[in-house]
Amino acid sequence: MTANFLTIDDLTAAELEAVLDRAERYKREGPPPALGGGTLAMIFEKPSTRTRVSFETGATRLGGHAVFLGPDDIHLGHGEPIRDTARAVSRYVDAIMARLFDHADLEELGRYATVPVVNGLTDDAHPCQTLADLLTIRERVGGLDADVAWVGDANNVCRSLVLGAALLDLELTVATPPAFTVEEAVLDRAADLGRAPETTTDPAAAVEGADVVYTDVWVSMGEEADRERKLAAFESAGFRLTEALLEDQYVMHCLPAHRGEEITDAVIESDRAVVWAQAENRLHAQNALLAHLLEG
Ligand code: CP
Ligand code: NVA
Repeated sequence: MTANFLTIDDLTAAELEAVLDRAERYKREGPPPALGGGTLAMIFEKPSTRTRVSFETGATRLGGHAVFLGPDDIHLGHGEPIRDTARAVSRYVDAIMARLFDHADLEELGRYATVPVVNGLTDDAHPCQTLADLLTIRERVGGLDADVAWVGDANNVCRSLVLGAALLDLELTVATPPAFTVEEAVLDRAADLGRAPETTTDPAAAVEGADVVYTDVWVSMGEEADRERKLAAFESAGFRLTEALLEDQYVMHCLPAHRGEEITDAVIESDRAVVWAQAENRLHAQNALLAHLLEG
């Protein structure tokens, strides 16, 4: 069976560490031509800046190239079933990266494709982001003996971080309003993998003594109908990263950021924010992942 990367725990802990080591090496020395003149298909149902540009430039750096397939470019979503898209596209390309709404659709793509399928974000998970996040934490803190606080919505980025932290035994606390906490199934899976995070509804308690504080938007792509309810819940409970909430922690954000909502302009522009290095690390981490998957 072809190896896919649909969730972070599609890698074992040893494989995840090896991908991070490889990413560090590629960042220092440049990547090898692992795509060997081949092609990466990039299927997008949602918008993207970082994922699109990092995968496309990554494919070039790996000695291949990428084909961008947006929502109106292909028959997917306009009547052609996912399984047919998967089988046809697999006949042309060496790997597929897809950003879809429904995670079950990505699983179907992965089941029918005959080349590796990589999750470029679904409503449930964003494992490529977690690769870059773990790489960034390792670089900044000098290893993974770090205390990380997630402050915000327990969304796709958070779920993948929870499982990545469980795999690599990273100390993680997740602070959310009560209505937006991590699902039991994710906590159970994290415990199975080795370590479930602490959970709290108190952002100040979560950030106290942390090395890294991480946030993301309160309203993810596809949740726009719930926007007012979510903004009210996070705002009233003090979940915005402000200078008053923080001490000297590194601040992470997967981006795009909504300044004035989950983070202030002053915090994201401060020296403690490592968001641009984090964004750059998407490129190195994904190149390492693709090389790992293509080598089989
Ligand atoms: N962090 C991230 O995935 O950004 P994009 O939505 O711009 O790809
Ligand atoms: N949680 C955000 C992440 C964007 C990269 C979203 O899904 O919109």
